[in-house]
Amino acid sequence: MTHSKPASLLDRYRKFLPVGESTPLVTIGEGDTPIVRAHGLERRIAEAEIWLKLEGCNPTGSFKDRGMALAVSKAVEDGARTLICASTGNTAASAAAFGAQTSTSTVVVIPANGVALGKVSQTLIYGAQVLSVRGSFDQGLALVRELANLPGVAIVNSINPDRLAGQQTAAFEIVDSLGDAPNELYIPVGNAGNITAYWMGFVAYQKAGFLTNTPVLRGFQAAGASPIVSGQHVLSPETVASAIRIGNPANWKLAATACRQSEGTIEAVTDEEIIEAYHILASEEGVFTELSSAAAVAGLLKRARLGHDVGPRVVCVLTGSGLKDPEAAVRYASEPVEIEATVPAVAQHLGWDGI
Ligand code: F0G
Repeated sequence: MTHSKPASLLDRYRKFLPVGESTPLVTIGEGDTPIVRAHGLERRIAEAEIWLKLEGCNPTGSFKDRGMALAVSKAVEDGARTLICASTGNTAASAAAFGAQTSTSTVVVIPANGVALGKVSQTLIYGAQVLSVRGSFDQGLALVRELANLPGVAIVNSINPDRLAGQQTAAFEIVDSLGDAPNELYIPVGNAGNITAYWMGFVAYQKAGFLTNTPVLRGFQAAGASPIVSGQHVLSPETVASAIRIGNPANWKLAATACRQSEGTIEAVTDEEIIEAYHILASEEGVFTELSSAAAVAGLLKRARLGHDVGPRVVCVLTGSGLKDPEAAVRYASEPVEIEATVPAVAQHLGWDGI
């Protein structure tokens, strides 16, 4: 029996992407992530059909692998010797994985405080050089922008247009799975690249005749890191959702334009609302997602609670895996109980009679 090699993400969507004959299509197996029906959320919001796009199922555990596949393919094509990025953790891990796969050295700059343990450990084990700077993500990005001017260095943050082009593929997959675009797309917003990329993807697919109407974008920032909502830079952004702890998003203008064109909104959700959604996703959907990803679902629940029309068909983008941040899960869930390894001890603890 012969097996044909399955096409990689970039190959599958190549006619929508800036790849040529000489572009090496680098892949670590990204894309083609599950989209599942959210029955638990539908019990809470009866009028909507709700889907979850599980981007934490990408190889490094976040959506970043889509854009990184293209950004690194193009960087390798252009002869880059070093990949560089600033990151709250997920971009770093993804860049490091692609750097390892292509034997390209990778340098990542992370804020010294508050990057989730799973992301730091991934980035280190892939072999990247991790520079932990005393400052915010925004300061790290300013530093990296300067370093990227050096010859042979490719910046792989979402200011690199190839990142956004690659991330469009998530929008393509949603339309391919559902047969059309949803009415609304709920998505967390940090550096504001992903919401921009989804919009580009939906618009490109509409032009190609694959969908009837583009969705309304519903972006959500954490209240303590919500510059787009307030219209002002936040110098010391604060939120439990460390991946979106960003005070001056690089793609602010593009995201604001995308949002306006979609007739959507960018709103804020509090840390309490994020933690509540994080619990609901895990305990009612069986989906262990990052706190930052839960911001999208917090936004959906909030809009429904405030009496806004939701739906009729909604997709929430769950951008990263909960396993990235085990400390958060331990912090917000109950502790394990230690007991003797006997049946009576179990029965007593669980209140089971008659064993
Ligand atoms: N969700 C997760 C899990 C993220 O890691 C990020 C961004 C976002 C949402 C927001 O996406 O920046 O395109 O608006 N993480 C970046 C990083 C900043 O460095 O990993 P965005």
